Amino acid sequence: MRVLMVCLGNICRSPLAEGILRSKVFSDSIFVDSAGTSGFHQGELPDPRSIAIAKVKGIDITYQRSRKFVVEDFDNFDLIYAMDQSNFNNILDLARNGEDESKVKMILNESNPNQNLNVPDPYYGGDQGFENVYNMLDEACDVIASKIQ
Ligand code: 4NP
Repeated sequence: MRVLMVCLGNICRSPLAEGILRSKVFSDSIFVDSAGTSGFHQGELPDPRSIAIAKVKGIDITYQRSRKFVVEDFDNFDLIYAMDQSNFNNILDLARNGEDESKVKMILNESNPNQNLNVPDPYYGGDQGFENVYNMLDEACDVIASKIQ
């Protein structure tokens, strides 16, 4: 099973989602990665505030580097989780067929089914926003981990 977490910059939300899900799955047959719909931060480390909240929770995300979502990701992943509606729409715009489309989910629908809730973009806010994002993603990743392993 291959799971891709996607946000806008791939420096705040999706690196946390990747790190959190990796911390909950123990099978060698599960691979988790993340990407951004923009290439604004290509090659960069996660935001220092994401690194910090992950570290508080015992998770190291400093091995990660931002990359842009590419159409080949539809071939390389089974599940593609969007952090918000904008990411979801941007990913679906690149889908080539119904099979691609069917892989794309709103991540908070795992913890809050059918509500299409957004993981709020914490980039322009303070540290509290990152803790809030962490907690939302932790809940969603508990559900994802229990489903895929
Ligand atoms: P992310 O947050 O999508 O959670 O990585 C953002 C990071 C950077 C920008 C926007 C959102 N930006 O506009 O540079």
